Amino acid sequence: MSTNEDKLKTLIGHAKEYGYVFQSSEIYDGLSATYDYGPYGVELKNNIRRYWWEAMTKLNDNIVGLDAAIFMHPLTWKASGHVDAFNDPLIDNKDSKKRYRADVLLEEHIGKYADKIEKEVEKGRKKFGEAFDEAQFRATNPNVKRAQERIDAVVSRMKAALDANDLAALRQLIIDEEIKCPISGTGNWTDVRQFNLMFATELGSVSGESSTIYLRPETAQGIFVNFLNVQKSARMKIPFGIAQTGKAFRNEIVARQFIFRMREFEQMEMQFFIKPGTQKEWYDYWKTKRMEWHRALGLPAENYRFHDHIKLAHYADAACDIEFKFPMGFKELEGIHSRTDFDLGNHEKFSGKKLRYFDTETNESHVPYVLETSIGLDRMFLAILSAAYEEEKLENGETREVLRIPAPLAPVKVAVLPLIKKDGLPGKARAIFDILKLDLNCQYDEKDSIGKRYRRQDAIGTPYCITIDDKTIAHGTVTIRERDSMQQETVPVAEVQRIVNEKVDLRRLLEQL
Ligand code: GAP
Repeated sequence: MSTNEDKLKTLIGHAKEYGYVFQSSEIYDGLSATYDYGPYGVELKNNIRRYWWEAMTKLNDNIVGLDAAIFMHPLTWKASGHVDAFNDPLIDNKDSKKRYRADVLLEEHIGKYADKIEKEVEKGRKKFGEAFDEAQFRATNPNVKRAQERIDAVVSRMKAALDANDLAALRQLIIDEEIKCPISGTGNWTDVRQFNLMFATELGSVSGESSTIYLRPETAQGIFVNFLNVQKSARMKIPFGIAQTGKAFRNEIVARQFIFRMREFEQMEMQFFIKPGTQKEWYDYWKTKRMEWHRALGLPAENYRFHDHIKLAHYADAACDIEFKFPMGFKELEGIHSRTDFDLGNHEKFSGKKLRYFDTETNESHVPYVLETSIGLDRMFLAILSAAYEEEKLENGETREVLRIPAPLAPVKVAVLPLIKKDGLPGKARAIFDILKLDLNCQYDEKDSIGKRYRRQDAIGTPYCITIDDKTIAHGTVTIRERDSMQQETVPVAEVQRIVNEKVDLRRLLEQL
């Protein structure tokens, strides 16, 4: 595979062929930025969701769950600021007629300078070997310094323009930086305009009585409006959190890159309610905790980095992203936001109802501050799939496609394979399958040669294959083949259930947290 685009294309092809992700409404030529999850995709998605849910609600006795409705009272979105401020600044290229987010064009441009710096640092590392002092090199190398100055200048102008909502200044920056449309190659840009991202629809069965409601653009507001219901019913004391997973909808204009940016997607959000003044401490705490959750999966450490927001959302006093190295480069995977009392305070104003926490120690009530962690389930799915996919050259010169999905998240945990379709092997294999299937998602397969069946399980990402052969009949043993190393181990049939259960148990991830 050569370019990033090729990598993504290969992954999309693999995801379709092996039942992970399909284009929505494909028989009608598809609906853009909307996708369906196939038989293996739905299992992977459920497993990721379960890993997140259990890490939040089982490992923290001060975090409880909620499942709020997608539709909410229209005033919710006035109070949350989404009606007035949930906009993207858009710009069109007059020649290609393609539309872009102005801030994304600039961030990608900044990314190019950042790539230059990394290349320079790599060159330095090679040149100086053991004696390489990276910090000193970054501070003194003229090429690095020049690129960093360019980044600082662009970031500062971009931040000023976004903070002041100065769309003309944003356009001028794109022109001054000579940013070109990747399709037409020209810098022939329209003005920048704001575009609200919420989907609106009508509610009401009696004509003339309908009112505009929105499909929720984030799950968080369902948590805020239920703050007191949950706190009182579950007898929670601050600091405590409410976790929720569910669909969110955004009328994304720049919706590309497969399931990275969709119009209908799923979020996993946790709002942590804290005492005002303690937000810095909790912000640092949740940054560390969330990175631990990612790292427990065992994907390469260099695939993750933190990125502080240049422009803070309308509700935040501090915010950063955990970025992941997707096939198209480092991009946002999860957000960690210090949301102050913005949401609860505004819901108090708009609803006329108190949303305060009564502190029995101080005998005072206050509007809590909120620390939020928010991750897209579909993005997490793409992160895992893209890190897992490999076209591996084998010693015998063949190539195999393998998905090295962390075993506790793999859609199918075990495949049970009789070596041949006779001599009583299928019956033995079925008996083992019938025991394993009570605990695990298993497959039974007796078609084709054993080599072909292994390849198919590799491509699906099945971490273990159990092969039943004549030794099973003679000695009561089977072989367990491990997907990544392709090593085979002989074990007694009576031990199979225990061994496999241990290897694929979600506990293996949770106990690292
Ligand atoms: N409640 C805060 C919030 O919604 P956000 O940064 O807008 O913050 C949180 O979204 C996460 O949701 C992102 O980090 C990303 O993983 C996911 N997400 C946002 N928009 C998305 C989209 N159009 N398609 C897929 N995932 C998306």
